[in-house]
Amino acid sequence: MVAKTFKFDDDLEVNRLGYGTMQLPGKGVWGPNANPKAAVDVMDAVLNSDVNFIDTADAYGPLFANDYVRQALQDYEGAHKMIATKVGFTRQGPDVWTPLGNPDYLRQQVEINLFSLGLESLDLIQLHRIDPHYPLADQVGVLADMKKEGKVKHIGLSQVTIDDIEAAQKITPIASVQNRYNLTDRHDEGVLNYADQHHIAFIPWYPLATGHLATATGPLADIAKAHRATPAQIALAWLLHRSDVILPIPGTSNVNHFFSNTAASRITLSAEEMTQLTNLGDAE
Ligand SMILES: NC(=O)c1ccc[n+]([C@@H]2O[C@H](COP(=O)([O-])OP(=O)(O)OC[C@H]3O[C@@H](n4cnc5c(N)ncnc54)[C@H](OP(=O)(O)O)[C@@H]3O)[C@@H](O)[C@H]2O)c1
Repeated sequence: MVAKTFKFDDDLEVNRLGYGTMQLPGKGVWGPNANPKAAVDVMDAVLNSDVNFIDTADAYGPLFANDYVRQALQDYEGAHKMIATKVGFTRQGPDVWTPLGNPDYLRQQVEINLFSLGLESLDLIQLHRIDPHYPLADQVGVLADMKKEGKVKHIGLSQVTIDDIEAAQKITPIASVQNRYNLTDRHDEGVLNYADQHHIAFIPWYPLATGHLATATGPLADIAKAHRATPAQIALAWLLHRSDVILPIPGTSNVNHFFSNTAASRITLSAEEMTQLTNLGDAE
């Protein structure tokens, strides 16, 4: 039986299929969307759907994705949506990402995320990358301090090893891990298994392999056809079946793709289909 929700704590339980905002800014995750109203419309659709787990970062744009989230949140009056954001990356241009783990800057970034999202506290702050130039204890430590100050509820990591998680857990509880993982990229199977054993949310980025899985042929397309579904929906359904701690966050700038992706949570895969799909991957 596939779990529909994941519980971060007694007050914070989310539907497992979420949404990632990285496709909302301009090309190279830089600057505004060519049609900013369309980006806010996507966010409106997200907020008015069952999706209540949204992943963003001030680095997306920078700031444009957060601003689209804030604009949509302004008019939204429904149930609480969990906004997960990230700190630890600076941007110098399209597709250019430079980690910066100076704890003073991380503190400023938490404030920038709060302001740009229009929130008083952040449900989940994730360290986007560990910066080797600063001690881990300082990078995670400043986020732990801000948790004590009430600005952050949960702390997560991104693109880390099991050793990194265990080192960070010595400083503060780690609620989530966001690593690259999808049907055909399973390098981090070990980290996923660790997260599963410790009830840590595992948030796979590139859940659609940046869209490649949406246009797949072969067995993935065959299984999709049998379910009258799309390959993207089957790739997401596989993630949802793979482990109950997985929270996929497919990114899209297209409202129709968003609705199509969310329908993946209604697909039930048989054990045989799971085996067939799992065999497509490159697990180590
Ligand atoms: N922690 C990290 O280091 C990290 C790194 C990268 C991403 N992320 C997070 O992970 C999220 C997901 O990653 P992602 O957005 O880069 O990649 P993704 O979800 O694997 O794929 C997004 C791509 O797939 C296309 N797509 C989405 N749904 C589709 C559908 N139903 N049919 C056809 N094409 C579809 C999108 O184009 P359209 O816009 O045309 O739909 C876009 O080009 C991001 O939004 C971000 O929140 C985190």
